[in-house]
Amino acid sequence: MPTYNDPLSEYITQHFAREDRALINTRQQTPEKGLPAINIKAEEGRFLQFLAAAAQAKKAVEIGTLGGYSGIWIARGLAPGGKLITIEKSAKHAGVAREHFEAAGLAGRVEVVVGDAHQVLENLAPQGPFDLVFIDAEKSGYDAYYDWAVENVRTGGIIAAHNAFRSGNILDPNINGDVRTTDNFNRRVAFDPRVISTIFPAGDGTLIAVKIDR
Ligand SMILES: C[S@@+](CC[C@H](N)C(=O)[O-])C[C@H]1O[C@@H](n2cnc3c(N)ncnc32)[C@H](O)[C@@H]1O
Repeated sequence: MPTYNDPLSEYITQHFAREDRALINTRQQTPEKGLPAINIKAEEGRFLQFLAAAAQAKKAVEIGTLGGYSGIWIARGLAPGGKLITIEKSAKHAGVAREHFEAAGLAGRVEVVVGDAHQVLENLAPQGPFDLVFIDAEKSGYDAYYDWAVENVRTGGIIAAHNAFRSGNILDPNINGDVRTTDNFNRRVAFDPRVISTIFPAGDGTLIAVKIDR
């Protein structure tokens, strides 16, 4: 019985997550412009686009913009008239992302907010409730970002968090530090009665939670 692996990932990508020119340019130019090459994979982007569409998202939030690669996928899944607010602490990263959103024809649908997400989110709360929140910034912040998201998404709203598998290190019996933080976070969400949650196993694993009425 095959388990999820690179050839199966490639199969998904080839059939469901083909990049157009704007996505290819964003992925390639982000490191060329001096940013780290730590964007999500195409299949993970397609999954986020799928989530945005399934939620008929009009109001989405991303925490951790980098060069805009994941933001393009999310913005393309929004409902008509929908908007993505993406938060980035680095002014340089935010500037590069704005160029890429513009080039993708999405400048009108995406707002890049520069600042530490913990502060920015506090100010953003009155604009909620939100339909989708994607968390992809520093791992030590995931608990706080998740709590904000559960408070500020509507019932039926979706929360997604990147790197649930930590490149497979989540299975290391001697995990510690940053990977332990992720393991604790995954376990906490798994038992959170406010949501129904799981991990979508493509790429580096996307933890997903839908807020339920209780
Ligand atoms: C892994 S990258 C995001 C990748 C992006 N989501 C993508 O796939 O294209 C993480 C980003 O989060 C930003 N970041 C880290 N800590 C942050 C914070 N406290 N507030 C806002 N942004 C933060 C980093 O500067 C970096 O650009």
